[in-house]
Amino acid sequence: MASLISNLSSTISRLTLLPKPSLHFSVKTLGKFEVDRKLRGPISPFFRVSTNYDVAHFSSCPKAKTMNALGQDEELVVLGIETSCDDTAAAVVRSNGEILSQVVSSQADLLVRYGGVAPKMAEEAHSLVIDQVVQEALDKAKVTEEDLSAVAVTIGPGLSLCLRVGVRKARKVAGTYALPIVGVHHMEAHALVARLVERELQFPFIALLISGGHNLLILARDLGHYIQLGTTIDDAIGEAYDKTGKWLGLDMRRSGGPAVEELAREGDENFVKFKVPMKQHKDCNFSYAGLKTQVRLAIESKNIDASIPIASAGSEDRKARADIAASFQRVAVLHLEEKCERAIEWAMKMEPSIKHLVVSGGVASNQYVRSRLNKIVEKHALQLVCPPPSLCTDNGVMIAWTGIEHFQMGRYDPPPPACEPEDAMLDLRPRWPLGEEYAEGRSEARSLKTARVHPSLTSLIQASTQIMP
Ligand code: KG4
Ligand code: ZN
Repeated sequence: MASLISNLSSTISRLTLLPKPSLHFSVKTLGKFEVDRKLRGPISPFFRVSTNYDVAHFSSCPKAKTMNALGQDEELVVLGIETSCDDTAAAVVRSNGEILSQVVSSQADLLVRYGGVAPKMAEEAHSLVIDQVVQEALDKAKVTEEDLSAVAVTIGPGLSLCLRVGVRKARKVAGTYALPIVGVHHMEAHALVARLVERELQFPFIALLISGGHNLLILARDLGHYIQLGTTIDDAIGEAYDKTGKWLGLDMRRSGGPAVEELAREGDENFVKFKVPMKQHKDCNFSYAGLKTQVRLAIESKNIDASIPIASAGSEDRKARADIAASFQRVAVLHLEEKCERAIEWAMKMEPSIKHLVVSGGVASNQYVRSRLNKIVEKHALQLVCPPPSLCTDNGVMIAWTGIEHFQMGRYDPPPPACEPEDAMLDLRPRWPLGEEYAEGRSEARSLKTARVHPSLTSLIQASTQIMP
């Protein structure tokens, strides 16, 4: 596995935005589903054609593992597609954990131009490159659609305009080649990719998922069974990194996080005494909006001019920016540390056999975050599992892998119609909680703000399991 990971960087391709390709799929009409050929194993009795995707995605059938004629588990080859935010990503992964390809097209130029993700622009950018990204993932993996066992795609949470692009593409491939399709929860995928990297990682485990839009602490009891110990009541840590980077005039082409991390190495982390958020809240929830404001005020008080890029800043100006970056990072991560410690206590009470803390999501690629959290887990005799940076930020591998895990449990949809109309209703879940809230961890501040649009992944899986014979 180590060699697989070390090979990753060479297989990742960062595409630039290119004009819309003239490639068109030849849509084959299949008289009947050739699913049994694709699955090469027994078809689950619950495998059915349904337009009720809420149920169909989670028609769980633990017996539906793919077996060959000798009764051995058959190796799956799954294409994963991710377009929930600003990265267009695809990958091909085998069920033995082998990553056959990984392709990511980032919208760095748009991020710099708009200072964040503009949904309409992001949708256009995804639409421009999606065909190329998927094709390149197949080519690099040296497979064709005919070799695939299934297609996995992010259906939420995320920006619905962006999710739509990936889901359409996935359904087109799956419909054309009669492939089953697995709808994937983006945050579950951030957590489960750790099981691809660390094959020893068994349930139950704790996961801290930190990205641009999410700050989640979960207890993962089993595949699809999650308890949400904490979440953010306002902004996620990645958003705070991004704004800090922007206000400090850093190079945002790789997003704010890596730029702040780099500059912070030069700074004095005790220079500005920022207040640690939510000290008085004895829960596992997060808040980064107040810290953002503290950083903005500190930047204003030092008369830092973000229109002067850091590369052109004088030495004193650069030192002031570095000190703010380091002071911000210290407190932002201290907030993570404090809440993680409490989450470990809560989770160990429920599941004393826990051995691992998984840290994943874009911010988990930060070395300072990793080293601080490593100290926490050591204190509790746990082991830290952090996927490599290319698997922490949004990628297609995590989607393919999560698709494989659910597919092996019989949780998938049948192939879509070969000629699905362009305006077909898609099952997109922009606001989709991962697990059920831990009662002790419920924050009043948060419950006022959160309008849940979709039942959580865990509740859907539990409901479908209960109706099983
Ligand atoms: O998981 P991700 O790729 O996309 C979302 O689902 O949001 O996370 C992106 C976030 C951005 O806010 C970015 O600034 C942050 O992850 N990030 C980092 C680092 N690399 C990416 N934050 C801190 N340090 C990093 N090295
Ligand atoms: Zn993400």
